Amino acid sequence: MRPRTLRARLVAGLLVLLALACAAVGAAGSLSLNRFMVDQLDRQLSMTAGRFAASLEHDDDRDGHGDSRGQSPGTLGVRLVDGRVTHAAVVTAEEADIRLTSADAAVLAAVPLDRRAHSVELSELDDYRVMAVPGADGDVLVNGLPLEGVNAAVHRLQITESVVFAIVMILTGVAGTTWVRLSLRPLDRVTATARRVSTLPLASGAVALPDRVPDEDPRTEVGQLGAAFNRMLGHVGEALAWRHASEQRMRTFAADAGHELRTPLATVRAHAELARRHPGDVPGEIRHALERIDAESGRMGTLVDDLLLLARLDAGRPLARDPVDLTRVVIDAAGDARVSAPGHRWRLRLPEEPVTITGDAGRIHQVVANLLANAHTHTPPGTTVTVSVRAPAPGAAELTVHDDGPGIPEDVRAEIFERFVRADKARSRARGGSGLGLAIVKAVVASHGGDVSVESRPGDTLFRVFLPAG
Ligand SMILES: Nc1ncnc2c1ncn2[C@@H]1O[C@H](COP(=O)(O)OP(=O)(O)O)[C@@H](O)[C@H]1O
Ligand SMILES: [Mg+2]
Repeated sequence: MRPRTLRARLVAGLLVLLALACAAVGAAGSLSLNRFMVDQLDRQLSMTAGRFAASLEHDDDRDGHGDSRGQSPGTLGVRLVDGRVTHAAVVTAEEADIRLTSADAAVLAAVPLDRRAHSVELSELDDYRVMAVPGADGDVLVNGLPLEGVNAAVHRLQITESVVFAIVMILTGVAGTTWVRLSLRPLDRVTATARRVSTLPLASGAVALPDRVPDEDPRTEVGQLGAAFNRMLGHVGEALAWRHASEQRMRTFAADAGHELRTPLATVRAHAELARRHPGDVPGEIRHALERIDAESGRMGTLVDDLLLLARLDAGRPLARDPVDLTRVVIDAAGDARVSAPGHRWRLRLPEEPVTITGDAGRIHQVVANLLANAHTHTPPGTTVTVSVRAPAPGAAELTVHDDGPGIPEDVRAEIFERFVRADKARSRARGGSGLGLAIVKAVVASHGGDVSVESRPGDTLFRVFLPAG
């Protein structure tokens, strides 16, 4: 049960220290009062030393009681002969003889004969301060004064102290809590600002940082923290703005480059086509070269289109919002895949009712086509690919593409949706992949407000696309 918050710890520490101080003050007070009163008692005892007890020596003259004149009530007188009590009396209203138990007698007999006061505890009577003096005829006279008054005074002081200390502790607890809370309030503002920053999506886009922390008094620690925090926010803001600007530049660059590449590329393809159609004899090598030019410029065209699409999605251009029959899209895409990869086993799991979503039909088709293309280009023939569509809620859709191929290697799995990420660069480039397929899937799905994920282990790879309603 250790207090967690700084506030509680400070208040608890304050109270512990105060309790220690109270205990010390209380103990010192009681001790010194006790000392003082006992000293007074001892003085009184030495002044009257032995008078009452001595009077017991001559009790034959009187009727069995000592001479109690001038003695304060409670005064004890005891006469011992050879260590045995012969007389014992206490001055009271009636001046009574008393019987001491043998234990008490032994205690009194043990009081040293040194004319000094000693404290004794008697079972029948109160605690006493006693002094022993030698009597006239070899006996020992013990005179005593009760400690009752001293004890009562000390006890009373202790009770008063306890009450006062308890009140002080309670007041300190309340005042301390308020005070600590007030002192730490600026910290709350720093915390609130930090919390607001921590919820911001700092990873991308333009970011508006929250207001600075108001408290900047450089004389206080919290003020220094606030100032440092504000400076940090300033730096972070600059860095974010810079990053945003450079992202923007990159995007514009990709879009411009794509546009600029398109025209010469189209020209290259047109000329290659023209040359291939050339009537008459064309040597075989030339024909082959022209075919290569055609194929590679086609690939380059796809790459440029992909880059342009990504640049457009990055720029957040609004997509078409039409009703799209996802089941239809899947059936078409699977039909195409069957033709291009007849060696794979293709399975469809579609619901009875068509699943319709709102979005851009062309882009959705691209998502399905990219996933299906991956499911056959990155797996050997004979692999079974299962495509299923589900409607988890009206208007929403879940598309899954499963294959039992070799799976995605562990080292690239985490970043498989990033641009130009491929497991085996050399091999997949030979198969025409550029590593943009899944990046496009992710960007398109994200721009539809959806979400794509992958789980993969050898023999079991599953891509899951969720598209929300609306
Ligand atoms: N179904 C799959 N099975 C195994 N690996 C896959 C699968 N789908 C994707 N991959 C891996 O993910 C990488 C990235 O895919 P993608 O972005 O479509 O790029 P590309 O297909 O152009 O290589 C691929 O190169 C491949 O290594
Ligand atoms: Mg691909």
